[in-house]
Amino acid sequence: MAERDELTRFGVSMNQELVDQFDKMITEQGYSNRSEAIRDLVRKALIEPNRLQLTEVVAGTIVIVYDHHSVGLPSCLMDIQHSFHHEIVSTMHVHLNDHQCLEILVVRGILKELNQLCQQIQVQKGVFYAELSVTHVDEHETVHSHE
Ligand code: NI
Repeated sequence: MAERDELTRFGVSMNQELVDQFDKMITEQGYSNRSEAIRDLVRKALIEPNRLQLTEVVAGTIVIVYDHHSVGLPSCLMDIQHSFHHEIVSTMHVHLNDHQCLEILVVRGILKELNQLCQQIQVQKGVFYAELSVTHVDEHETVHSHE
């Protein structure tokens, strides 16, 4: 079996039209060869949200847009964030206009818990938008959940 860092070569068959389209795309994106482009496509496919296990440790962001005039909402969002202080690494708050706020939470933890955090935020009245975006993190330490 090949060592982990060794490169394995394999052949890929596809029709010429698809190859031409692929070459055009990767040239536009600045790849110097097909291999690097295919590696990136594979990596991207492997981190698709539905590929991740709910018990997996992931890191990413939750982007929120909400109305800060909505009664009780700012303190409610603050309470939710405090109850997930283990998962929230950092936050950034931008005042978009006189009533809308954009917040970016940098999160890291077990996917299931981050889903719960995002869900709790999303269902609050006055929250226009809440979206979690994550990728897998190599985690060699023992992780325990906070349920
Ligand atoms: Ni604001």
